[in-house]
Amino acid sequence: MTDVKKLVEVINLKKYFPIAGGLFQRTKRAVKAVDGISFDIYEGETLGMVGESGCGKSTAGRAILQLHKPTSGQVLYKGRDLTQLSSAELRAQRPDMQMIFQDPYATLNPRHSVRKIVGEPLVINGKMKKGSLELKDRVAELLELVGMNPAYMKRFPHEFSGGQRQRIGIARVLSLNPKFIVCDEPISALDVSIQAQVVNLMQDLQEQFGMAYLFIAHDLSMVKHISHRIVVMYLGKIMEMTDRNTLFDDPLHPYTQSLNSAVPIPNPEIEITRTRFILEGDPPSPANPPSGCVFHTRCPLVTEECITVEPQFREITPGHFVACHLANTTGGSKIFIPDSKKEPS
Ligand SMILES: Nc1ncnc2c1ncn2[C@@H]1O[C@H](COP(=O)(O)OP(=O)(O)O)[C@@H](O)[C@H]1O
Ligand SMILES: [Mg+2]
Repeated sequence: MTDVKKLVEVINLKKYFPIAGGLFQRTKRAVKAVDGISFDIYEGETLGMVGESGCGKSTAGRAILQLHKPTSGQVLYKGRDLTQLSSAELRAQRPDMQMIFQDPYATLNPRHSVRKIVGEPLVINGKMKKGSLELKDRVAELLELVGMNPAYMKRFPHEFSGGQRQRIGIARVLSLNPKFIVCDEPISALDVSIQAQVVNLMQDLQEQFGMAYLFIAHDLSMVKHISHRIVVMYLGKIMEMTDRNTLFDDPLHPYTQSLNSAVPIPNPEIEITRTRFILEGDPPSPANPPSGCVFHTRCPLVTEECITVEPQFREITPGHFVACHLANTTGGSKIFIPDSKKEPS
C-alpha cells in the first residue's frame, strides 16, 4: 500500500468507564471497554472490526469519532490529533466523519418526514436553506443514490421496512460528503436476505465516492465480503489484524480461528466434513480482565506464559499483526490445534 494514504491513525487508544464505588472503596475501578488499540485506516478502504458483544467495538467507534472522550491515546485524522481539538475545531471537522447505527429506527426521528431527516444535516451545517428548492433537489438526489424513489420524501420512517430505513439513514449521512464513516453493525438487525443488499449498496457508494469505512460486526460472515482488512477484538484489545484473505485462509490467533469456525461454508461437502473449533462460555468482564493474555481463560492452547505475560501485538509477516505467544514467528503456518480440542461438526 505505497500510494495509499492513511486517513485515520488510531494510536494506543483507551476508553475506561469509571465504576461508581462504595463509600469506603479506595481503589478506583473501571470498565476497560477499549484498552490500548492501534491501527490505521487508509483512504477509500473498508476496515472490518469483529468480536463478541461487549468486547468494545461500539466504544472504539465512538472514541475514534470523539463521541466518547478517550481516556488516553491519539486519533489522527489526516495527521491532525482529534483528541487535542477544541469543541469548535471538532465541530468544523464533524461533517467529514459520520456514523451509521445498527437500528436506524432509533436514530430517525419518527415525527420527521424523510425529506426533513435527509436534509437536516445540510441545514444544521449551514450548507443549504430550509425549504429551499436546492435542498429538495439534493434530498431527491440522495434518495436516488441509495436506491429509493424520491417521491418517498413525503413519508415517515414507520412507513418503511428495516432495510429501507437503513437506506434513509445512509442518505442522511451521505448528505455532507463524509470521507470516513463508522458503521456500527449496520446490517445486524436486518433480515439475512436484506443484509447483502445493504452491503452491496455501501460498496457501490464507496466505489463512487471513495470514503473509508470502519465496518463493525459481531461475526466474521458479515464483514467477510465488504472488508479489505479486518481487526479482531477481544475484551478491549486487538488479537489479530490482517487483510481479509489472510484472516480467513491463515488465521494465527486461536480466537480468530474459533470465529472462523463459526462461519458457514457454502459448499455442503466441505461443511459436513470440516472440523469445527467452537469456543465455550462467555468472555470475562472488562471490569476485571484476566492477567497475561486476556484470552487465556478460554484458549485451548493456554500455557504458563499466557497466564502471566501479556503478549505483544506484533507484526508476524508484512501487514499481519497478532497478539499471541504461540504465533509462529517464521510466519505463514497456523497454530496447531490438537484433535482433542477440536469439535467434530
Ligand atoms: N457508557 C458506558 N458506561 C459504562 N460502561 C459502558 C458504557 N458503554 C459501554 N460500556 C461497557 O463497555 C464494554 C464494551 O461495550 P461496547 O463498546 O458496547 O461493546 P460492543 O459494541 O463490542 O458490544 C461493555 O462491558 C459495556 O458494558
Ligand atoms: Mg456495539
